[in-house]
Amino acid sequence: MNRIPLIAGNWKMNMTLYESKGLVLGIHYAIKYPHDVEVVVAPPFTAISFVSGLVRSSYIEVAAQDISTHDAGAFTGEISGSMIRGAGCRYVIVGHSERRQYFFETDDLINQKMAAARTHKLIPILCVGETLIERERGACFNVVERQLAVALSGLQTRDPLSLVIAYEPVWAIGTGRTATLEQINEMHAFIRSTLAGVIDPVFASQVRVLYGGSVNSKNSAAILSLGDVDGALIGGASLRVAEFVSIIKSATNN
Ligand code: PGA
Repeated sequence: MNRIPLIAGNWKMNMTLYESKGLVLGIHYAIKYPHDVEVVVAPPFTAISFVSGLVRSSYIEVAAQDISTHDAGAFTGEISGSMIRGAGCRYVIVGHSERRQYFFETDDLINQKMAAARTHKLIPILCVGETLIERERGACFNVVERQLAVALSGLQTRDPLSLVIAYEPVWAIGTGRTATLEQINEMHAFIRSTLAGVIDPVFASQVRVLYGGSVNSKNSAAILSLGDVDGALIGGASLRVAEFVSIIKSATNN
Protein backbone atom coordinates (compact mmCIF):
# COMPACT_ATOMS: atom_id res chain seq x y z
CA MET A 1 0.00 0.00 0.00
CA ASN A 2 1.28 3.44 -0.96
CA ARG A 3 1.39 5.97 1.83
CA ILE A 4 -0.36 9.09 0.45
CA PRO A 5 1.34 12.17 1.93
CA LEU A 6 -0.74 14.24 4.32
CA ILE A 7 -0.21 17.97 4.73
CA ALA A 8 -1.94 19.29 7.83
CA GLY A 9 -2.20 22.90 8.95
CA ASN A 10 -2.50 23.42 12.70
CA TRP A 11 -3.95 26.90 13.08
CA LYS A 12 -3.55 26.82 16.89
CA MET A 13 -5.26 29.81 18.59
CA ASN A 14 -5.46 31.85 15.40
CA MET A 15 -8.13 32.78 12.86
CA THR A 16 -11.46 34.46 13.39
CA LEU A 17 -14.33 33.25 11.23
CA TYR A 18 -13.63 35.97 8.71
CA GLU A 19 -9.92 35.08 8.51
CA SER A 20 -10.73 31.36 8.32
CA LYS A 21 -12.84 31.91 5.26
CA GLY A 22 -10.07 33.78 3.42
CA LEU A 23 -7.52 31.11 4.28
CA VAL A 24 -9.50 28.03 3.41
CA LEU A 25 -11.00 29.42 0.21
CA GLY A 26 -7.57 30.72 -0.78
CA ILE A 27 -6.18 27.17 -0.51
CA HIS A 28 -9.12 25.75 -2.42
CA TYR A 29 -8.86 28.25 -5.28
CA ALA A 30 -5.09 27.85 -5.56
CA ILE A 31 -5.26 24.04 -5.76
CA LYS A 32 -8.40 22.66 -7.33
CA TYR A 33 -7.59 18.96 -7.50
CA PRO A 34 -4.42 17.93 -5.70
CA HIS A 35 -2.72 14.79 -6.96
CA ASP A 36 -1.66 12.17 -4.47
CA VAL A 37 -1.73 14.38 -1.41
CA GLU A 38 -4.25 14.74 1.38
CA VAL A 39 -4.85 18.20 2.85
CA VAL A 40 -6.16 18.80 6.37
CA VAL A 41 -6.75 22.04 8.27
CA ALA A 42 -7.20 22.25 12.05
CA PRO A 43 -9.08 25.45 12.90
CA PRO A 44 -9.84 26.53 16.48
CA PHE A 45 -13.09 25.01 17.85
CA THR A 46 -15.03 28.22 17.14
CA ALA A 47 -14.37 27.94 13.39
CA ILE A 48 -14.64 24.17 12.84
CA SER A 49 -18.27 24.03 11.88
CA PHE A 50 -17.98 27.08 9.63
CA VAL A 51 -14.83 25.78 7.88
CA SER A 52 -16.37 22.30 7.50
CA GLY A 53 -19.31 23.87 5.70
CA LEU A 54 -17.02 25.80 3.36
CA VAL A 55 -14.95 22.74 2.39
CA ARG A 56 -17.76 20.19 2.30
CA SER A 57 -17.55 19.61 -1.44
CA SER A 58 -13.77 20.00 -1.68
CA TYR A 59 -10.80 17.74 -0.99
CA ILE A 60 -9.90 19.60 2.22
CA GLU A 61 -10.52 17.64 5.43
CA VAL A 62 -10.95 19.20 8.86
CA ALA A 63 -9.32 18.31 12.18
CA ALA A 64 -9.90 19.46 15.74
CA GLN A 65 -6.86 20.47 17.79
CA ASP A 66 -7.87 18.58 20.92
CA ILE A 67 -10.60 16.31 22.30
CA SER A 68 -12.11 15.75 25.73
CA THR A 69 -11.75 12.36 27.40
CA HIS A 70 -15.43 12.69 28.41
CA ASP A 71 -18.44 12.06 26.20
CA ALA A 72 -20.80 14.64 27.70
CA GLY A 73 -21.70 16.31 30.97
CA ALA A 74 -20.58 18.95 33.44
CA PHE A 75 -17.08 19.64 32.11
CA THR A 76 -17.01 23.39 31.51
CA GLY A 77 -14.91 24.35 28.52
CA GLU A 78 -14.45 20.82 27.19
CA ILE A 79 -15.43 19.62 23.69
CA SER A 80 -16.39 15.97 23.17
CA GLY A 81 -15.64 13.63 20.30
CA SER A 82 -19.29 13.48 19.25
CA MET A 83 -19.39 17.29 19.03
CA ILE A 84 -16.19 17.29 16.97
CA ARG A 85 -17.48 14.59 14.68
CA GLY A 86 -20.85 16.32 14.38
CA ALA A 87 -19.14 19.59 13.45
CA GLY A 88 -17.59 17.86 10.43
CA CYS A 89 -14.13 16.69 11.50
CA ARG A 90 -12.48 13.54 10.27
CA TYR A 91 -9.27 14.00 12.25
CA VAL A 92 -8.22 15.19 15.70
CA ILE A 93 -4.76 16.25 16.87
CA VAL A 94 -3.92 14.45 20.12
CA GLY A 95 -1.02 15.13 22.49
CA HIS A 96 0.40 18.21 20.79
CA SER A 97 3.46 19.38 22.71
CA GLU A 98 1.78 22.68 23.57
CA ARG A 99 -0.98 20.70 25.31
CA ARG A 100 1.64 18.61 27.10
CA GLN A 101 3.68 21.68 28.06
CA TYR A 102 1.10 24.36 28.92
CA PHE A 103 -1.88 22.22 29.93
CA PHE A 104 0.05 19.45 31.65
CA GLU A 105 -1.25 16.60 29.53
CA THR A 106 0.36 13.34 30.56
CA ASP A 107 0.91 10.21 28.47
CA ASP A 108 -1.97 8.54 30.35
CA LEU A 109 -4.37 11.37 29.61
CA ILE A 110 -3.29 11.27 25.97
CA ASN A 111 -4.02 7.53 25.93
CA GLN A 112 -7.57 8.31 27.14
CA LYS A 113 -7.92 10.96 24.42
CA MET A 114 -6.85 8.37 21.84
CA ALA A 115 -9.62 6.10 23.12
CA ALA A 116 -12.13 8.98 22.93
CA ALA A 117 -11.10 9.65 19.33
CA ARG A 118 -11.62 5.98 18.43
CA THR A 119 -15.00 5.85 20.13
CA HIS A 120 -16.17 8.70 17.93
CA LYS A 121 -14.52 7.40 14.75
CA LEU A 122 -12.09 10.28 14.51
CA ILE A 123 -8.59 9.63 13.16
CA PRO A 124 -6.06 10.79 15.73
CA ILE A 125 -2.95 12.65 14.62
CA LEU A 126 -0.84 11.63 17.60
CA CYS A 127 2.05 14.03 18.29
CA VAL A 128 5.25 12.79 19.87
CA GLY A 129 8.63 14.45 20.29
CA GLU A 130 11.37 15.27 22.75
CA THR A 131 12.35 18.57 24.38
CA LEU A 132 15.77 20.11 23.83
CA ILE A 133 16.96 18.97 27.26
CA GLU A 134 15.86 15.42 26.50
CA ARG A 135 17.70 15.47 23.16
CA GLU A 136 20.83 16.91 24.70
CA ARG A 137 20.98 14.24 27.36
CA GLY A 138 20.55 11.55 24.70
CA ALA A 139 17.06 10.54 25.81
CA CYS A 140 15.10 11.40 22.65
CA PHE A 141 14.53 7.79 21.55
CA ASN A 142 13.47 6.67 25.02
CA VAL A 143 11.06 9.57 25.32
CA VAL A 144 9.42 8.97 21.94
CA GLU A 145 9.23 5.22 22.57
CA ARG A 146 7.49 5.82 25.91
CA GLN A 147 5.10 8.39 24.41
CA LEU A 148 4.12 5.93 21.66
CA ALA A 149 3.81 2.90 23.92
CA VAL A 150 1.56 4.65 26.46
CA ALA A 151 -0.55 6.58 23.94
CA LEU A 152 -1.17 3.49 21.82
CA SER A 153 -1.78 1.03 24.59
CA GLY A 154 -5.14 -0.67 24.12
CA LEU A 155 -5.27 0.23 20.42
CA GLN A 156 -7.25 -2.56 18.78
CA THR A 157 -7.26 -1.54 15.15
CA ARG A 158 -4.85 -2.87 12.56
CA ASP A 159 -6.06 -0.43 9.91
CA PRO A 160 -3.11 1.84 9.06
CA LEU A 161 -5.47 4.60 7.90
CA SER A 162 -7.01 4.82 11.35
CA LEU A 163 -3.99 6.57 12.84
CA VAL A 164 -1.43 9.22 11.92
CA ILE A 165 1.74 9.88 13.91
CA ALA A 166 3.44 13.28 13.89
CA TYR A 167 7.04 13.56 15.07
CA GLU A 168 7.47 17.09 16.37
CA PRO A 169 10.66 17.81 18.29
CA VAL A 170 9.57 20.44 20.82
CA TRP A 171 12.70 22.52 20.23
CA ALA A 172 11.78 22.89 16.54
CA ILE A 173 8.21 24.10 17.04
CA GLY A 174 7.71 27.78 16.28
CA THR A 175 11.42 28.44 16.71
CA GLY A 176 12.51 28.59 13.08
CA ARG A 177 14.88 25.76 13.93
CA THR A 178 14.12 22.55 12.03
CA ALA A 179 15.64 19.21 12.84
CA THR A 180 18.32 18.19 10.34
CA LEU A 181 17.34 15.74 7.61
CA GLU A 182 19.47 13.14 9.35
CA GLN A 183 17.75 13.65 12.70
CA ILE A 184 14.33 13.44 11.04
CA ASN A 185 15.21 10.32 9.07
CA GLU A 186 16.66 8.60 12.09
CA MET A 187 13.66 9.34 14.32
CA HIS A 188 11.09 8.41 11.69
CA ALA A 189 12.79 5.05 11.13
CA PHE A 190 12.87 4.58 14.91
CA ILE A 191 9.15 5.40 15.19
CA ARG A 192 8.34 2.85 12.49
CA SER A 193 10.38 0.15 14.20
CA THR A 194 8.76 0.98 17.56
CA LEU A 195 5.31 0.70 15.95
CA ALA A 196 6.30 -2.68 14.55
CA GLY A 197 6.87 -3.85 18.13
CA VAL A 198 3.91 -2.06 19.77
CA ILE A 199 1.40 -2.93 17.02
CA ASP A 200 2.73 -5.04 14.13
CA PRO A 201 5.23 -4.76 11.27
CA VAL A 202 2.67 -4.53 8.44
CA PHE A 203 0.81 -1.76 10.23
CA ALA A 204 4.11 0.01 10.94
CA SER A 205 5.12 -0.07 7.29
CA GLN A 206 1.78 1.39 6.16
CA VAL A 207 0.93 4.02 8.78
CA ARG A 208 1.73 7.63 7.97
CA VAL A 209 4.39 9.41 10.01
CA LEU A 210 4.48 13.19 9.57
CA TYR A 211 7.20 15.62 10.55
CA GLY A 212 6.40 18.93 12.27
CA GLY A 213 8.49 21.82 13.54
CA SER A 214 9.20 25.01 11.56
CA VAL A 215 8.28 23.46 8.22
CA ASN A 216 7.97 26.13 5.53
CA SER A 217 7.94 26.44 1.74
CA LYS A 218 11.74 26.54 1.62
CA ASN A 219 12.50 23.37 3.54
CA SER A 220 9.41 21.27 2.82
CA ALA A 221 10.57 19.63 -0.42
CA ALA A 222 13.75 18.28 1.19
CA ILE A 223 11.92 17.07 4.30
CA LEU A 224 9.09 15.46 2.34
CA SER A 225 11.50 13.64 0.05
CA LEU A 226 12.80 11.55 2.98
CA GLY A 227 11.72 7.94 2.66
CA ASP A 228 10.02 7.58 6.04
CA VAL A 229 8.36 11.03 6.03
CA ASP A 230 4.75 10.91 4.84
CA GLY A 231 3.75 14.53 5.18
CA ALA A 232 3.96 17.45 7.57
CA LEU A 233 2.12 19.08 10.45
CA ILE A 234 2.52 22.81 9.97
CA GLY A 235 1.85 25.64 12.40
CA GLY A 236 3.00 29.15 11.49
CA ALA A 237 3.39 28.53 7.77
CA SER A 238 -0.16 27.14 7.51
CA LEU A 239 -1.65 30.55 8.28
CA ARG A 240 -0.63 32.08 4.97
CA VAL A 241 -2.26 30.86 1.76
CA ALA A 242 0.83 31.16 -0.45
CA GLU A 243 3.10 29.39 2.03
CA PHE A 244 0.71 26.55 2.72
CA VAL A 245 -0.13 26.08 -0.95
CA SER A 246 3.51 25.88 -1.91
CA ILE A 247 4.13 23.27 0.81
CA ILE A 248 1.21 21.21 -0.55
CA LYS A 249 2.69 21.50 -4.04
CA SER A 250 6.09 20.39 -2.79
CA ALA A 251 4.43 17.22 -1.47
CA THR A 252 2.91 16.39 -4.82
CA ASN A 253 6.27 16.58 -6.59
CA ASN A 254 7.79 13.83 -4.52
P1 PGA B 1 5.39 25.34 13.58
O1 PGA B 1 4.39 24.46 14.47
O2 PGA B 1 5.25 24.88 12.16
O3 PGA B 1 4.92 26.77 13.78
O4 PGA B 1 6.76 25.12 14.11
C1 PGA B 1 4.22 23.08 14.20
C2 PGA B 1 3.21 22.51 15.16
O5 PGA B 1 3.16 22.92 16.31
O6 PGA B 1 2.44 21.61 14.79
